[in-house]
Amino acid sequence: MRSLNYLLSFGCLALFTVNGLARDWQTIVNGEYWEDTDGARIQAHGGGFIKVEDTYYWFGEDKSHNRHLFKAVNCYASQDLVNWTFRHAVLTPATHPDLAAAGRVIERPKVLYNEQTGQFVMWMHWESSNYGAAECGIARSGTIDGDYELVAHFRPNDNMSRDCTLFRDDDGTAYFASAANENADMIIYRLTDDYLDIQEQVVTLWPGSYREAPALLKTGGMYYLFTSGATGWDPNQAKYATAPAMDGPWSALTDIGDHITFDSQSTYIIPVAGTDTTTIIFCGDRWQDPDLQSSKYIWLPLHIEDGKAALSWRRIWQINTAAGAWRMSQ
Ligand code: DGJ
Repeated sequence: MRSLNYLLSFGCLALFTVNGLARDWQTIVNGEYWEDTDGARIQAHGGGFIKVEDTYYWFGEDKSHNRHLFKAVNCYASQDLVNWTFRHAVLTPATHPDLAAAGRVIERPKVLYNEQTGQFVMWMHWESSNYGAAECGIARSGTIDGDYELVAHFRPNDNMSRDCTLFRDDDGTAYFASAANENADMIIYRLTDDYLDIQEQVVTLWPGSYREAPALLKTGGMYYLFTSGATGWDPNQAKYATAPAMDGPWSALTDIGDHITFDSQSTYIIPVAGTDTTTIIFCGDRWQDPDLQSSKYIWLPLHIEDGKAALSWRRIWQINTAAGAWRMSQ
């Protein structure tokens, strides 16, 4: 009888595993090439993510031509963060003559949805081939994966502006952070209500510290800003800082991960909120230079507790977007 009960419960468990929650676990394998649902290598480097209803969208640089020069900003879609369908090259040299200019470089595109205008707004690092332009660029579209229209490119408040990120706060206020002053300083700006321009310069962080690759997160009422050092395409020590408000006071920089951030550079932090819990994913680029087209993506679950962040190497792990949970590979 006991063994019958055991068999019955095991059978139920097996059924549940096949038909239930376990189906939702997807495996992330770091250090390997990631392919889209058509079997093509995903080209979305320096990426940014946005969730719309139950779908995550990934915007990033297409480096398939193996150069740092602008080819396209690609958009992919996924519900489970592992199976990505290519949607569209949403920004290309055909978008605007300024994007077709010789030596154009576009990096780190990030997209937010503006509720007031119903537009998706993209901010990016706008460059010339020798990184002398140091501007931000802005584009918009009425549909998330449609053709984006170029709105403007300029130096915010006349500051140089290189590696950048975009962040939407709970109340809809949006912020743009970018490396200024030849990368020596990191500046956070508040955007206008339509997200198409700079409203005000909020804070200048760590002057002379040369931080790049900013990525912002808010959790537990605290803001976290992750950055890399400035060593070109080579990896270095990531650091993070915290603040109770966007205008500070911001803490000093604290090391996170190993001395080369597990051979990656931050690009975005995805909070995966599900029915059970929230997993926060640190998304990085493992740049391959030369051979930029072979750059990989390194995603790791970020551990946050008592205002402190920690990152450990996990080559294979699993995410369940419905539950918001992660676990080591089963
Ligand atoms: C580091 C930046 O984070 C990348 O986006 C890229 O601009 C490289 N530098 C170029 O050397």
